[in-house]
Amino acid sequence: MFLARLIYTSEVVEGFDQLDIESILSVARERNAALNVTGVLFFNSCYFLQCLEGSRSNINAIYHRILNDSRHTNPVLLDYREIAERDFSAWQMGYIAETQKTRDLYRQFSPVSDFNAYRMSGESCYRLLKHMATSAPML
Ligand SMILES: Cc1cc2nc3c(=O)[nH]c(=O)nc-3n(C[C@H](O)[C@H](O)[C@H](O)COP(=O)(O)O)c2cc1C
Repeated sequence: MFLARLIYTSEVVEGFDQLDIESILSVARERNAALNVTGVLFFNSCYFLQCLEGSRSNINAIYHRILNDSRHTNPVLLDYREIAERDFSAWQMGYIAETQKTRDLYRQFSPVSDFNAYRMSGESCYRLLKHMATSAPML
């Protein structure tokens, strides 16, 4: 089995609300648990930034489902690689909401002050997610 990590960003569609996040997370956590996939999702009301880690075949299967989800648009794959170990093994899908803490953090990783992963390198996105997972509250 090859262990892999995938990071992508996407844009929210109009009409998306907090209930959509809750329903995404509940389905995601159930399915990810069944497939032994872990990861984190950051959402700032405009953009998603998500990391999935698990077996190569399982994270690809989930990513393909996510790509077809009409609750977001313009998905861009930012980073994909095989890894020796997981970074987010404690979370079936940890959720990081935007707070002053996350705003302070992404200023350290991004050339622009408003969060926009389309303008960040895959490596910066990975490092940002790792920082946020350890220092911002995970829901
Ligand atoms: C931003 C975003 C992140 C998502 N993350 C996951 C995830 O980590 N795991 C998952 O199974 N589904 C995730 N989903 C939901 C899938 O797109 C899909 O709705 C779900 O897996 C159910 O698929 P099905 O209708 O084919 O059964 C996510 C959706 C969005 C919009």
